[in-house]
Amino acid sequence: MKALIEPYKDLDALSTAVADWLSRRVASVLRTEARFTLVLSGGSTPERLYALLAREPYRSGIAWEKIHVFWGDERYVPFDDSRHNGRMAQELLLSQVPVPADQVHYMDTTLPPEESAARYAALLHDYFGESGPTFDLVLLGMGDDGHTLSLFPGSPLIHEQSAWVAAPFVEKQDMYRITLTAPVVNRAAAVAFLAAGAGKARTLQAVIEGAYQPDTYPSQCIRPVAGELHWFVDQAASALLAGR
Ligand code: 6PG
Repeated sequence: MKALIEPYKDLDALSTAVADWLSRRVASVLRTEARFTLVLSGGSTPERLYALLAREPYRSGIAWEKIHVFWGDERYVPFDDSRHNGRMAQELLLSQVPVPADQVHYMDTTLPPEESAARYAALLHDYFGESGPTFDLVLLGMGDDGHTLSLFPGSPLIHEQSAWVAAPFVEKQDMYRITLTAPVVNRAAAVAFLAAGAGKARTLQAVIEGAYQPDTYPSQCIRPVAGELHWFVDQAASALLAGR
């Protein structure tokens, strides 16, 4: 599936566009399904989006009670640590909208990393069968180095073909991570990267228009089998893309 690249003036415009698109997508899926399974990204880019979704018209326009929330990855730090992706989303969004608590699935950083990954994988296997689509929508970010989730350049996890969740130790951050891997993300009905800022322009051009080299640019391993792939980018991040 060819990636759909949607450039916006700045992060505010990008965040509003994603909020509108997500809202329409939720409504469309819930016309025929009983639930919407949503994976939230960590990092700083989605913070604006999460704060938007907590306010009108999205606060009352989205059927939050039918949404099941997961994470793409988690820094292995206590929940109250400022780096914790779940805490950030809880503070900006989930404390403001009526998603039932038993439908919010934080990655558990109180268990040993490997056990936390195994439990999260078991949760996902409970939600999704062994074939067919997984999540209705996965939101992802891309680091300046081309990483996504916690799949960093050179990581053997980039080529993982069976495990859905892993717990790598990330040398350069001196930290464990809990992360989804490509197989479960690539079975999603839709994946949307959010990338903003001039610091990502060179990497974005390499990821989208360059040769396929996922060991260098792990974001390239996200290629939905049958789902949609969207890139929501701002003008600064997309400045080096051909035809921009
Ligand atoms: C994380 C994220 C990571 C993030 C990118 C982009 O836990 O760090 O999941 O994959 O999406 O690093 O981060 P920014 O949005 O802060 O640039």
